[in-house]
Amino acid sequence: MIKVKIDISKCLPFVDQTGFQSITEEVVRQYKTLLSGTGKGNDHLGWLHLPSLVTPGFVDQIKEASERIRSDSKVFVVIGIGGSYLGARAVIEALSNPFSALNPDNEKICVVYAGENLSEDYHSALLTLLDRVDYSVAVISKSGTTTEPAVAFRIIKSHLEMKYGRKKAAGRIIAITDAAKGALKKMAEIENYTTYVIPDDIGGRYSVLTPVGLLPIAVAGFDIGKLLEGARMMEELVFSSPDPVVNPAVVYAAIRNALYRNGKTVEVMVNYEPRLFYFMEWFKQLFGESEGKENKGIFPAGVSFTTDLHSMGQYIQEGLRNLFETIISVENSNSFLQVPVDQENLDGLNYLAGKKLSEINSMAEIGTMLAHVDGGVPNIRLSIPAVNEETIGQLIYFFEFSCALSGYTLGVNPFDQPGVESYKKNMFALLGKPGYEQKGIELRERLGK
Ligand code: PA5
Repeated sequence: MIKVKIDISKCLPFVDQTGFQSITEEVVRQYKTLLSGTGKGNDHLGWLHLPSLVTPGFVDQIKEASERIRSDSKVFVVIGIGGSYLGARAVIEALSNPFSALNPDNEKICVVYAGENLSEDYHSALLTLLDRVDYSVAVISKSGTTTEPAVAFRIIKSHLEMKYGRKKAAGRIIAITDAAKGALKKMAEIENYTTYVIPDDIGGRYSVLTPVGLLPIAVAGFDIGKLLEGARMMEELVFSSPDPVVNPAVVYAAIRNALYRNGKTVEVMVNYEPRLFYFMEWFKQLFGESEGKENKGIFPAGVSFTTDLHSMGQYIQEGLRNLFETIISVENSNSFLQVPVDQENLDGLNYLAGKKLSEINSMAEIGTMLAHVDGGVPNIRLSIPAVNEETIGQLIYFFEFSCALSGYTLGVNPFDQPGVESYKKNMFALLGKPGYEQKGIELRERLGK
């Protein structure tokens, strides 16, 4: 059953009905382009049928590998950046107890991340931890040449080899990369690492349902079968018809493009559950890299409420009116916590006594939505009954499909990321990478060095 519901009623006053109708028709045309595989970037559509194509045998293979890792490791280091780590982190953090690592009885493996930044302090602290625990590593890079994860892997591989010896260390490394090309693929062959392939036709930010996401999620102890099942349900729904009455991805792509054309150029994803913070980061990467090109695109941002009502709330309520919000609304919590009665009532909170915290959170959500709409910020509401593998799987596929539709409606290729290369070239030139000497001279001149 489909659990994700979309409500755009708090956006309709901000778009004219005829314009919205014609954008919806445009999205339906782009739906046909996407399904017929005739649009831009059509060599990267491998994610489209992925949920229904992953076999139970493959799921079992990933589960077995994860059990091996769990049996001899206390920490699992996921090395990767962008699409090669955000999906896994989004799902793991959404499903995890935020305090399990601090629980003295915790028997569970702890998943940590490396190579998603270049901080010396961060990686030094990680090595200090790894000195004291048994650990395994997944190094994930489709190109196999991205600098951040490659550098982190060199450092961690050397630590692992010092700790266990070269042969045993190799048994604790899993490489997830291209089937044929890239430095990582070559290394994996020479060192005999267990290897999983990222299919050629699936880009990084659409890869969470490949081993890129599935292996770390399984290692963290979550049910990848249910995650895939959730995604498969959404795949079935969006493929059943482009009719906006049944297809929430068409509705979402249409309303965000309609708002964009009415000057709402920033989409703020809103969560009221801290566990969804990295889901929001994943969303930002998916839409930012897919749509932000050719001097176009909705800027994806994110806030965590009610925390950020005490920081960004003021701007959203009264700042520049170029925003719309997309709320991920979770209807039920997975636990039970009531506000207690206090006879003295010194804090004046007895009017809340007996209420569940989630009820208070929910009133904050509704109150904020109405206030922001009154302040000129349209609100899209995506609701799920609870956070679990199935609903997260549905949301993942919903956003992937919507992003492709929305990118096509915007007129861009949602599957490439040419702009990411610019900073890399400058960094290589400044670091003296062979082949970048001339650019290095030019940059140093610009910097006056
Ligand atoms: O979505 C993308 O394609 C990017 O964010 C990549 O995932 C990111 O740049 C990392 O690339 P790679 O997996 O080649 O190391």
